[in-house]
Amino acid sequence: MKDIRRKTVKELLSDPAKYAGTEVDVKGWVRTRRGNKNVQFVALNDGSTINNLQIVFDLSKFSEESLKPVTTGSSIHVQGKLVESQGKGQSVEVQADELEIYGTADPAEYPLQKKGHSLEFLREIAHLRPRTNTFGAVLRIRHALAFAIHKFFNDKGFYYFHTPLITESDCEGAGAMFQVTTLPLDELPKTEEGAVDYSQDFFGAATSLTVSGQLEGELGATALGNIYTFGPTFRAENSNTPRHLSEFWMIEPEMAFYDVNDNMDLAEEFIKYCINYALEHCKDDIQFLNDHFDKGLIDRLKFVVDNDFVRLPYTEGVKILEESGQKFEFPVYWGADLASEHERYLVEKHFKRPVMLTDYPKEIKAFYMKLNEDGKTVRGMDVLFPQIGEIIGGSQREENYDVLRARMEELGMADMPWYMDTRKFGTVPHSGFGLGFERLVLFVTGMQNIRDVIPFPRYPKNCSF
Ligand code: 4AD
Ligand code: MG
Repeated sequence: MKDIRRKTVKELLSDPAKYAGTEVDVKGWVRTRRGNKNVQFVALNDGSTINNLQIVFDLSKFSEESLKPVTTGSSIHVQGKLVESQGKGQSVEVQADELEIYGTADPAEYPLQKKGHSLEFLREIAHLRPRTNTFGAVLRIRHALAFAIHKFFNDKGFYYFHTPLITESDCEGAGAMFQVTTLPLDELPKTEEGAVDYSQDFFGAATSLTVSGQLEGELGATALGNIYTFGPTFRAENSNTPRHLSEFWMIEPEMAFYDVNDNMDLAEEFIKYCINYALEHCKDDIQFLNDHFDKGLIDRLKFVVDNDFVRLPYTEGVKILEESGQKFEFPVYWGADLASEHERYLVEKHFKRPVMLTDYPKEIKAFYMKLNEDGKTVRGMDVLFPQIGEIIGGSQREENYDVLRARMEELGMADMPWYMDTRKFGTVPHSGFGLGFERLVLFVTGMQNIRDVIPFPRYPKNCSF
C-alpha cells in the first residue's frame, strides 16, 4: 500500500471533479459484490453518507481467489484511481490497484444480506442494524438534529445547563420512576416501624433516575436567565406504544421573564428551525426515507415549516372533539386527559396542521404549572404534531410562593425547600418546555416506531445491547 491519506466516501462524492484522475485511498464495508469473469464491482460504504462508492476490480489484476473474502459485510482497504464512471448510477468509481482485507463476514452467518429486512427483525439485531441504509440514514439525521438543537440555543444566547440524572424528586408526579439503590434487595434494612431504612442507602435517602431535568433547570434559569438541558430521562411506565421509550432524551429550555405566549413563540421557532436544518443538511438521507418508506415525508416536513401552528385553549379543543361525531376509543369530556387519538384528530383531521393546546384543567397537569385566574385551569401548553401526537409539553411556571405551596400540599407532596427558594428569593415569572428528542426524530425521519430512531432502545422487557 502506498502512503496516501484516506478519504471518506462522502468527501470523494461531494466533490468528484476535485479528485477525479487522482490516486485515492478508501476504507469501508462491502455492501454488495457482483460482476463477471473479467470485472467485479463492489459497492463500498463507510458510513459517512448513504451513498456507496463503486470499486472496480479488473480480474487481469486481481485473482478470483483474492476476491473471495470480499463478501457483503466484510471490511476492506482499497487504493486506486478515481475515474468518471462508465456505468449508470454513479458519477465516479475507483479502479482498484491495491486491496487489503481487514475482516471477513462469512455469508453463511452474516445476517445482513442484501435483501430488505423487516424493521422488526432488525430490532432483534440492533447491534448490527446501524450498518443498514435505513438506520444509517436515521442515525445521521439524529446526529444532525442534536447538533441543530445546540446551535439554535447557543446562537440565541441560551446556556447548556447540566442537570443530574439521579434524584430524590419526582418532577412530573406520575410516580413512574426507576429506583436507584445499593441496598441488598434480598435483605433490606428496616426502621423500627418496619419501613425500608433509606438512611442506610448510598445517598442516605430514597433515590431514582430522573423523569425530567426541569426542576433543576428552573434553578439555572433563575440565575443565568435562559438555559436548556439536553440529556437522558427515564420513565418506568409500562407503555408498549410506538411513541414511548423507558429511556429517552429530552431537551428542556427554561426562560426567566417568559410568559406562556413567549414560550409558545420559542417552541414554534425552535421546532421549525430543527426541521429546516435537517431538510438542508440531510438531503440524501431524507430523500432515501421518503422514497423507501413514506412518500409524503418531505412534503409533510415542508408543510410544517411553512405554516403557522394553531393556538387553542383546551376547552375549545374538547368542544371540537365532542362535536366531531367521531367514535373514539377513550371518552372525551372537559377534564379528560387527551389521548393520542384525540390529539391526532385535532391535528390531522380538523386543523390539518400542528396545534398548541393551552390552559388545561389543573387536575391533569403537574404541580408546577401556573394557575389561571379562573382557579380551574393552568397555563400549560402542549405542542401536538401530525403522526406523533404530543411532541412538546410545557408551561408557564407558578412563581407565587403561597399558591405553589398550597398546590403541593393539596397534592400531598413532600416539601422541596431548595425548589421553593426560587420563589422565596427574587422570584420571577418564567416558563419552559420539554421536547421529546426521539419524537422529533420520529417526525423528521417518518419512521413509525420510536424504537427505530434510537440506536439501542429500552422498553418493557427489553434492555439488551
Ligand atoms: O410532557 P412531559 O412529561 O413534560 C415534562 O417532563 C416537563 N418537565 C417538560 C418541561 O416543561 N420542562 O414530557 C415532555 C416530552 C413529551 O411531550 C414527549 O415528547 C416526551 O417528552 N416524552 C416521551 N418520549 C418518549 N418516551 C416517553 N416515555 C416519553 N414521555 C414523554
Ligand atoms: Mg406531557
